[in-house]
Amino acid sequence: MIPYGRQSISEEDIAAVVSVLRSDFLTQGPVVPQFEQAVAQKVGVAHVVAVNSATSALHIACMALDVGPGDTVWTSPNSFVASANCAIYCGAEVDFVDIDPDTLCMDAQALAVSLQECRKSGKTLPKVVIPVHFSGLSCDMPAIHRLSLEYGFKIIEDASHAVGSVVGFMMGEPAEPVGSCRFSDICVFSFHPVKIITTGEGGAALTQSDELAGRLRALRSHGITRAEGEMTEPSHGGWYYQMLSLGLNYRMTDIQAALGLSQLSRLEQFIEQRQKIAAHYLSLIAAEPKLGEGAVKTQQIPSYCSPSYHLFVAQIPMECHRRCFDALRDSGYGVNVHYIPIHTQPYYLERGFAWGDFPHSEDYYRGAISLPIYPGLPQGAPEAVIDIIAKEIGRPSA
Ligand SMILES: Cc1ncc(COP(=O)(O)O)c(C=O)c1O
Repeated sequence: MIPYGRQSISEEDIAAVVSVLRSDFLTQGPVVPQFEQAVAQKVGVAHVVAVNSATSALHIACMALDVGPGDTVWTSPNSFVASANCAIYCGAEVDFVDIDPDTLCMDAQALAVSLQECRKSGKTLPKVVIPVHFSGLSCDMPAIHRLSLEYGFKIIEDASHAVGSVVGFMMGEPAEPVGSCRFSDICVFSFHPVKIITTGEGGAALTQSDELAGRLRALRSHGITRAEGEMTEPSHGGWYYQMLSLGLNYRMTDIQAALGLSQLSRLEQFIEQRQKIAAHYLSLIAAEPKLGEGAVKTQQIPSYCSPSYHLFVAQIPMECHRRCFDALRDSGYGVNVHYIPIHTQPYYLERGFAWGDFPHSEDYYRGAISLPIYPGLPQGAPEAVIDIIAKEIGRPSA
């Protein structure tokens, strides 16, 4: 089965992991800070806090921003459940802002309208908004940032898909990597094997704020400090530590960090290969008469972003969606669907959401298929995939 995404592991990656296995520290050693510094340097951010998943990073990001009971967090329905669950872990409520049907990312205009309505009706404004950079395409961050200043919310970018994406929002200014937190308080990366670079499981929370970085570091490791300057009384001795807040064990191991550090050296290569495959899919779709005239829609990429292409989604006419998906799977292509709108999950339906609440995310879901895209995708796979889709779309319905 050719999956929709998978890791690319080199001999150097393996050697880097083995070298940690032969060293004194499997965890809490020197490689995690090395990985953090390398990521920080790559994206131009002051602090990187590596953790054991993006889910954990989202959780401690909400905790660091004091999300709690009585607060509301808004995110995109077109995402993995973790983007919303992080607020529930903190005892807060979740609400959603629909996507722009062209970019598949949170619609900044819809956000503005919801905020306005919220203020008018006296409903609780969001404490935090979590825009999700779907497939690696950055949301319109300057617009969302302007709204954050007007309405007083904080921003956590869910950039789980967007490691290696580059944005240039301002004409005449140099482009910069997603992760610089120019328009957000915290940005979150995922290093799951289907993502751009991997640590097996893993994630990171990035921030420009010294204070937030301190909180994030404490929260990932039980809320414990060993720094005398942070303690409430003089140290009792070399063994002494203090627990200052209720944290968790969300630490990344040095084994994982070694893999991440080695993978990071090939980030540009990975992005180049993903972008090449995406361009190839686009040209195959354009050249296939059965897929013309909008029969298959793809994500619109605004000129401000050069995306990582964690995903490449073909939007199939609803009536052929299931048939195309099954035909691809039956032919050995492990395609998938990203995403079932979060608010339609039974857990969220029980919390009061309903089908119909966010129609753009729901319409998109009814036609979405994520096609295989990863460095090392076998030659000929995109041609075969597009051929199967074209055949199914051309076939009369049973
Ligand atoms: C948008 C988004 N956010 C968060 C996550 C959670 O990432 P992780 O598996 O590293 O916890 C994922 C994982 O697929 C994701 O796609």
